[in-house]
Amino acid sequence: MKLKNKHLLGIEELSKEEIEYFLDTASSLEDISNRDIKKVPTLRGKTIVNLFLEPSTRTKTSFELAAKRLSADTMSISKDASSFKKGESLKDTAKTLQAYHVDAIVIRHSASGSANFLSQQIDASVINAGDGCHEHPTQALIDAFTIKKKFGKLDGLKVAIIGDILHSRVARSNIFCLTKMGARVTVVAPPTLLPIDIEKLPVDIAYGLDEVLEHSDVIYLLRVQKERQSENLFPSIREYRRVFGLDDERIKKIKSEAMVMHPGPINRGIEISSQAADFDQSYIEEQVLSGIAVRMAVMYALVGIADG
Ligand code: CP
Repeated sequence: MKLKNKHLLGIEELSKEEIEYFLDTASSLEDISNRDIKKVPTLRGKTIVNLFLEPSTRTKTSFELAAKRLSADTMSISKDASSFKKGESLKDTAKTLQAYHVDAIVIRHSASGSANFLSQQIDASVINAGDGCHEHPTQALIDAFTIKKKFGKLDGLKVAIIGDILHSRVARSNIFCLTKMGARVTVVAPPTLLPIDIEKLPVDIAYGLDEVLEHSDVIYLLRVQKERQSENLFPSIREYRRVFGLDDERIKKIKSEAMVMHPGPINRGIEISSQAADFDQSYIEEQVLSGIAVRMAVMYALVGIADG
């Protein structure tokens, strides 16, 4: 399949067919990670840069693993160990990487729109690994892949996304992805953590977890983002946990087939109790594992077959 764009900047601009293509490609690449020799030559001779200017554990490691499993050469640049610390701009970093003729740049940045900006400065494919409050497209593809693996479909599923919708790039990307694939999404949050134009998004709204708990197929908790001031937008952590937290009592009420998901990192004891994070309907580790196959699929589609 020919993708419209050589970059992956957001889910909003993808078609349903393009999302399906990424998910199907991830399925076909998944088994490579179960082999003794976890490597194929698909991206041999290609260079992929991980430009992570905001902290990350899962996204950074899985992009790196995915690139190595496709035999690409990889480089990592972090904020604290690069000339960003001396004030170098994203534009000048792009010029430096352009001089090396790299094939793809995976960027995480605290500013919304930074991945789009980078894509205008450089010939390489740009993959958005999370830009401010805008989008985290590979996380949404991972989540769709993980849900589809369990239910065999996305169409018709009821998905509740609970927490800081206002600041969450994961929520935005998931809303675009899941609704394009036919799922019905309900966002669950205090009014202060909803975007003011929420009615423009194709979602239902609930103001407490108990409204959706018993009939959701997927219960998707978002992290309380202390670094984006979300704590000041509700009365207290205790109050948040009481109305929106998935605790030991609430997990008894969810459907026996329902999935509990969270993009990580989790705040145990705030949006999710320790028991809820670890119980047998929690798919948090599966999401992490899916990250490798999905990110392999994205790099394969944007870098590997773009030449062919
Ligand atoms: N889900 C996610 O983006 O996690 P990291 O911040 O650890 O990459």
